[in-house]
Amino acid sequence: MLIIGGSASQKLGALIAKELDETLCPLESRKFPDGERYIRITGEIDSEAVVIQSTGYPQDQNLMELFFIIKTLKSLDLETIKVVIPYFGYGRQEKRFKSGEAISAQIIAEMLEAAGASEIISINLHEDGLCDLFNITAHNLSAMPLLAKYIGEKFEDPVIVAPDKGALGFAREIAGILSCEHDYMEKTRISPEKVETKPKNLDVEEREAVIIDDIISTGGTIVNASRILRKHGASKIAVSCVHPVLVEDALLKIFSTGVDEVIATDTLQSDVSTISVAPLIANFIKKG
Ligand code: R5P
Repeated sequence: MLIIGGSASQKLGALIAKELDETLCPLESRKFPDGERYIRITGEIDSEAVVIQSTGYPQDQNLMELFFIIKTLKSLDLETIKVVIPYFGYGRQEKRFKSGEAISAQIIAEMLEAAGASEIISINLHEDGLCDLFNITAHNLSAMPLLAKYIGEKFEDPVIVAPDKGALGFAREIAGILSCEHDYMEKTRISPEKVETKPKNLDVEEREAVIIDDIISTGGTIVNASRILRKHGASKIAVSCVHPVLVEDALLKIFSTGVDEVIATDTLQSDVSTISVAPLIANFIKKG
C-alpha cells in the first residue's frame, strides 16, 4: 500500500503510515518561482494508495496539490486511490445561500471524483450531508470520542458547552460518553468575521466548563462563549475542537478572554493539536 502525505498533512501522514506499519512514500512538492505547483511521486508504485491531505488554510494550494497527486496516481494505473481529507475545506459552502453563489463543496467533490479518487474518508465534516455530494463512497468519521477521552482524563465532572445549536450534537455526544452535563448557547452569524451570542443562564458557577465545536476559524464564536461562561463564574474554561483552522490571531483572541486551555486534534497541524486522529483513520483503513 502506497501511503502519501500531502504538504498539509505531513506529520499526520507519517503517523498514519506508522499505525499501518507501512512506509510513507516520498513526495516532492514545491512551487515554481511564479507560484505554480510541481509534484513528483518517487515511491514504488503499488496497486493501492492512501493519500492524506487536509484541504484547509491555504485551501486552494492544498486542493491543487491533492488533485495533482490523485490524477498522477490514476495515470500510473493504480486500482484504488483512497483519499483521506481530515479537514474538508469549503465544507461550509455546501448549498446556495444566495442566488448565483458557487456550491463550492459540491464542485470540489466532483473534481475529486473526476481526478480519480475511489473513496473519501473525512473527519467531522461540517455537515453530514456532505457525504451525499459524492457518487463514490464517502465516510464521515467522528473524533469526538478522542476529545471525550482527553477531557475525561483532565477534568473532573465538567459541563460541556456547545457555543451554538449546530454544536449541540457534539456536546451531547461527549457528555454522553463522560456521563456529565451539557448545555448550549444561541448564536447568530452576522458576517464571516462577526457573530452574536445571546446571553443565557448557565449553571457553571465554580465549575469547570469545556466548550466544544467542530471548527475554530476566526475564534469569534469561542470568544463570545468564553466571555459568557466567565460572567457566570466558571472556575476553569477549556475549549476543544476537532479542526483548528485558527485564522490569524484567533488563538490570542481566545486566550485573552481568560480561557485556560485550547485542545484540538491534528486534522490541521497547529500549536494546540494535542490529540492525534491517526489511530482513528488507520483503524478505519485496516477494517477496510
Ligand atoms: C459554525 O457553524 C461552526 O461550527 C463554527 O462555530 C464556526 O465555523 C466557527 O467560526 P469562527 O471561529 O470564525 O467563529
